[in-house]
Amino acid sequence: MKRTLTIIALFLAMTAGMSAQQKAYEPAPENLAARQKFTEDRFGIFIHWGIYSMLSDGEWVMNTWGLPYDEYSRLAAGFYPSKFNAEEWVKVFKAAGAKYITITSRHHDGFSMFGTKASPYNIVDATPFGRDVLKELSEACAKEGITLNFYYSHLDWGRNDYYPRGNTGQKSERPDGDENSWDHYQAFMRAQLTELLTNYGPIGCIWFDGMWDRYLPDHKAHGELWRLREQYDLIHSLQPACLVGNNHHRPVFEGEDIQIFEKDVPGQNTTGFSAESVVSDRLPLETCQTLRNSWGYQVNDEAVKTPEYLVKYLVRTAGKDANLLLNIGPRPDGTLPESSVESLLAMGKWLEKYGSTIYGTRGGCVPEQSWGATTQKGKELYVHVLDHADAILVPVKGNKLVSAVAFDGGAKVPFSQVPEGIVLTLPAKPEGCYDQIITLTFKNEL
Ligand code: GLC
Repeated sequence: MKRTLTIIALFLAMTAGMSAQQKAYEPAPENLAARQKFTEDRFGIFIHWGIYSMLSDGEWVMNTWGLPYDEYSRLAAGFYPSKFNAEEWVKVFKAAGAKYITITSRHHDGFSMFGTKASPYNIVDATPFGRDVLKELSEACAKEGITLNFYYSHLDWGRNDYYPRGNTGQKSERPDGDENSWDHYQAFMRAQLTELLTNYGPIGCIWFDGMWDRYLPDHKAHGELWRLREQYDLIHSLQPACLVGNNHHRPVFEGEDIQIFEKDVPGQNTTGFSAESVVSDRLPLETCQTLRNSWGYQVNDEAVKTPEYLVKYLVRTAGKDANLLLNIGPRPDGTLPESSVESLLAMGKWLEKYGSTIYGTRGGCVPEQSWGATTQKGKELYVHVLDHADAILVPVKGNKLVSAVAFDGGAKVPFSQVPEGIVLTLPAKPEGCYDQIITLTFKNEL
């Protein structure tokens, strides 16, 4: 009898352990609603800001310049962004038409941009500035109705317990850790995630990055090494509506709520990062992209993208059913580079007029064409002509077209239905217009 009981107890303990590991993730109803809202929002601003901004050479500067941690970390004592004003930032991003912002709470250099008890290497305790900028942003976002998301780096170039080391940060000259380090580092990350999800109000998304630094070719083993499930479950237990995303460049792992693409629209791989990404057909998608070349502030990075380029990119991303997370790198003094702001405000102006063809839409049933992209809502298909032509074919079949009108002004657009779809005869392209939108209304839902 005693033996049987021991066996049953053992079996129960084992299966309990197993089920904690292997149970399929079931998003809470709040989480499903948050995914829906995320999809409707379509446009967010990414912010890379940290002590690295002081060296004005991007957020990887500690690694690219090969700086030892002891020297690099001294930047903190000189960090004083005297012009930082959370409300001004949020107002600019709102005027740009963004519905959410995603800011670096801790980047690969390991410096925390929030008041954390898990490490003294943070903006409140290690800088003369002493202010919790994430707190100020959370208050400004709440006031302006903007969702706040946190970027969180998995990898760390400063901590000894980030051990065994990854492929980057090799010149940091830190002492090696030991066999307990990884457990310790994981506990540190869980403590910080708990703070981020407890002290800053409702958080829209935790946006992970950097697990490619310690890479295992086997997908499952890679996720287990990083203990993703434990982290994701923690996030969802603290805030069930909080979305989990991870810029790992691989197919999604169990427990993720959105899928992220870096500098590529879903399905493309111009960067080489997206080679392993298989586009999920069930999760909301997001493409992150820079306004200039670099994510973090780089003083000689003049390559600011034009409003035309950005609007077209937003349209193409929406056409792929994905959000655009567009990055800005604030200066070390807390100001936003004027040329970046100019481009953002131009997007905002465009969205004010044409936002109904982007927000709340889904990627169109017509995939990207040589002339442009499509988005849709209900019975309406928004044809975004990015490359003007006198006539275009919109390959929709088996649904009767009721009307075709120019979004601007509402003039009727001549069309004919042919076996291959709908041929539209386009009006002349107005001066300065880089997206000529034609609204097609069909008899049936698309
Ligand atoms: C890459 C870069 C990182 C940046 C991120 C943003 O992972 O390594 O610095 O934060 O892209 O998508």
